[in-house]
Amino acid sequence: MEQIYKYIEDHASTPSPALEWLVKQTHIRTNHARMLSGATQGQFMHMLTKISGAKDILELGTFTGYSAICFASALPEDGHMDTLELNDELEDLILEGFERAGLSNKIQIHIGDCKETVLKLKEEGKMYDIVYIDANKREYCEYYELIFDMIRPGGLILADNVIWDGKVCQDPLPQDKQTLSIVRFNDMVSADPRVESVILPIRDGINVIRKK
Ligand SMILES: C[S@@+](CC[C@H](N)C(=O)[O-])C[C@H]1O[C@@H](n2cnc3c(N)ncnc32)[C@H](O)[C@@H]1O
Repeated sequence: MEQIYKYIEDHASTPSPALEWLVKQTHIRTNHARMLSGATQGQFMHMLTKISGAKDILELGTFTGYSAICFASALPEDGHMDTLELNDELEDLILEGFERAGLSNKIQIHIGDCKETVLKLKEEGKMYDIVYIDANKREYCEYYELIFDMIRPGGLILADNVIWDGKVCQDPLPQDKQTLSIVRFNDMVSADPRVESVILPIRDGINVIRKK
């Protein structure tokens, strides 16, 4: 299976020099490089942004900014992205990556708990075409309800890691809060008549949810 993933990655469009720089720096400067979405998923999100004609994007969970760059580099001239991250130690690296990608004017980073930031953005009347959920796995259901009315009709919610290494179909232990939360999230989405959705087995699984 590893071989086929490498083949797929080798045959997608080549990531930009800024993304390659960011991957290297993420390995050098953090202990969590496995959290990067990576080239295949990044290219998928880039294309989805272009195909959908999205203008406004919200991301919950920036990490070092890899996915933010993939989304924002596909936005039109007047597009904008808000990305939310709890860990303020990542801010310098995030900002340097945005600068190198030539996207400083398009992406705004908000440091702090994403639920609080979402409430502030909601008060400002912000609306989005795509919301990417990739922060605390235990809070996916709360995020979904919080952001739902900030999505324009026909807009997309993308939720990452919804296969959770296959654990979602393995009877999670009661103490495994992350798996239980993702199971609850996928169940909630598939039963929600306000949306249509499909889980794609890209990397750790992306739930692609379209608001009707
Ligand atoms: C899986 S990583 C995001 C990866 C990133 N989207 C990418 O693809 O490169 C999850 C990030 O969410 C952040 N996070 C976790 N809980 C959060 C919260 N309550 N508010 C904001 N960010 C949070 C973590 O610090 C971490 O950087």
